[in-house]
Amino acid sequence: MYNQQQTKELQENTTEWLSSLNTTNIHEIAAHNIEGLRNVLRFHEYRYYVQNDPLMSDFEYDSLYKLLEKTEKENPSLITAASPTQRVGSGLVKDFPKVEHLVPMLSLENSYNSDDLIDWDRKARELSTLDVVEYCVEPKFDGASISLIYDNNLLTRAATRGDGVTGDEITTNTKKIKSVPLSATFSSYGIEQIEIRGEVLINKNNFKAYNQKLMEEGVPPLANPRNAAAGSLRIKDTAEVGRRNLEAFLYHVSYIINGNQQATTNAQPSTHSGMLEMLWNLGFRSPKQEMKVVQGIDEVIKYVNEFETKRDDLPYEIDGMVIKVNNLHLQEQLGMTSHHPRWAIAYKFKARQATSKLTGVEFQVGRTGAVTPVAKIEPVQVGGVTVSSISIHNEEYIKEKNLLLGDTILIERSGDVIPQIVKSFPELRKGNETAIQFPGECPVCHHQLFKPTEEAVWRCININCEAQVVERIIHFVSKDAMDIKSFGDANVRKFYTEGLLKDIPGIYQINFDTIGKMEGFGKKSVDNLKAAIEASKTQPLHRLIYGLGIRYVGETTAKTLANAVEHVHDFKNYSEEQLQQMEDVGIKVASSIYRFFHDKDNLQMLEKLEAMGVSLINQKKQVAGNDQLAGQTFLFTGTLTQLKRSDAEEMVEHNGGKILSGISSKLNYLVVGEDAGSKLEKAKKITSIKIINEEDFIKMLPV
Ligand code: IVH
Repeated sequence: MYNQQQTKELQENTTEWLSSLNTTNIHEIAAHNIEGLRNVLRFHEYRYYVQNDPLMSDFEYDSLYKLLEKTEKENPSLITAASPTQRVGSGLVKDFPKVEHLVPMLSLENSYNSDDLIDWDRKARELSTLDVVEYCVEPKFDGASISLIYDNNLLTRAATRGDGVTGDEITTNTKKIKSVPLSATFSSYGIEQIEIRGEVLINKNNFKAYNQKLMEEGVPPLANPRNAAAGSLRIKDTAEVGRRNLEAFLYHVSYIINGNQQATTNAQPSTHSGMLEMLWNLGFRSPKQEMKVVQGIDEVIKYVNEFETKRDDLPYEIDGMVIKVNNLHLQEQLGMTSHHPRWAIAYKFKARQATSKLTGVEFQVGRTGAVTPVAKIEPVQVGGVTVSSISIHNEEYIKEKNLLLGDTILIERSGDVIPQIVKSFPELRKGNETAIQFPGECPVCHHQLFKPTEEAVWRCININCEAQVVERIIHFVSKDAMDIKSFGDANVRKFYTEGLLKDIPGIYQINFDTIGKMEGFGKKSVDNLKAAIEASKTQPLHRLIYGLGIRYVGETTAKTLANAVEHVHDFKNYSEEQLQQMEDVGIKVASSIYRFFHDKDNLQMLEKLEAMGVSLINQKKQVAGNDQLAGQTFLFTGTLTQLKRSDAEEMVEHNGGKILSGISSKLNYLVVGEDAGSKLEKAKKITSIKIINEEDFIKMLPV
């Protein structure tokens, strides 16, 4: 729609408008060039809604939008029907069938500090003539918004937001989201047809696991859970949508048609919080537990601040809070502007995005020899952390993100996910930017690099390359593998350079006297290291298998493998076909495992480890009668007080049981810790689930 020249011009105009915002006569300037300002806003709406590729922050957009709004208010004769203030949104991505929303899906006005909220409350009080307004405060979920329609208790249509008036029909994909009920007894509330709004998201753990899987396959990870959720809804392969583990929070009822009142057993709520409760009661995931009903804006401010401190502990991403007038009659009375409802406002938390400059690229060699480019950027604060380097994965990724040295880039750090480059801004280039050059040889051992045809990465194929050896040892001692505490990356590197450690078995032959004489090592740290190394000898088999760093074998596959054998050496007798029979093991993974256990050097390493006392046996298969929980499924919820959640889960698996990821009729036991929440409520509705506490669980384990 916009060509390069227009894009460049509009980008320059944007900069000019933004930098003149604080000029005293800005409204006069705006009145004189009002169409220019509108064109800038239209351009950014197009980038945001149509291209899904915004060029400015919400805050900047809002400032310019408010300038237009105010200028028009002061000069009503300048208002035109096509002004951005007079419509809901524009444009659509052409993909799925288009459907019209029953009620336009408006976006919310944004606020950034308590003054904004106080201002908004003042207007609500003035319009309602109330002294104190009751508000419902709930999280602002950071995903992709959807609308659901239920007719006579059945889910009949799901749609994306689109431009707010028309969206994409995504019913089939939405049916794959387990938290969206396919039917719900709205008739018990006298409702015949209802439209509900909500947000589809991927929780942080699933996002991390999904990205991990992509990276293990050599595919660059997705930038953030929001993009992952939005992208997943539009996938044509519905089964893949199911595998993405999407979730949905439903937070707004936009439309109701009443039906036969005879079946009505419940009164229809007259408040927003009542609606959230109704949805919850009908089996929806609404923010019933996260919401808070408060009196007046001071309590709102207290709750949003309190919630912001909990942001990192939540299992899903939120980018702020939404404050809604609780009484539905009052909501109606307040009505809406052309863009936003007056009865609700979004309060945005501090951004986790920032812009910086790409100043250089370094190439790192990983344990599998993959040469990864790492972007060096001008240090910048994102979500409370200073970021100065970011992995940029491979050549294709660099091409896809259109990165040049010297580029201005947008970076994001969502939750505890590693920072990523969201995009570059080619329109801001000055002409002195240069292409990123890949080295022809390994930056560490200078062996020539090789790019297998089916892969996106360049590799150093010298398996004795120093960088790879060190990275393999680091992986072996790491937390999720053998968990040798007090070793750490820095010590591995140090011991290696000092010649104290040359391979994985070397960990168990390390000379503690020499280490004791090294700078920074007192008796206590040497004792700790000794104890940690000793303790690692009896780690469960799946940790050892994961620690071996076999390509494509992540933690889950390592568990599957460990469960299948009594001793690691059993793998010598497995054919590739037999390996492929295992869960999660495809052709590529099977061939990698097969090669690993048919390599002379690897087998020699395993023998050395065993000779030094490292357990290579499946301990749980050795202990008789430990299939006590065979066939039983478990799920833990809330905080356990005696056991660590991961240990408890391991115990279930060690004893033949299985861990499920959610409440369903397949679940046998829900183990409830302190402060258990929605899972417990949901489990109570399925009578076959046995709800037990931690003590009961411990009693079920073999002594
Ligand atoms: S209420 C008519 N509540 O934020 C009001 N929106 O611009 C309907 N969002 O498009 C929206 N969490 O996608 C509402 N608890 C929440 C929300 C929420 C996230 C999204 C929604 C909306 C955008 C605001």
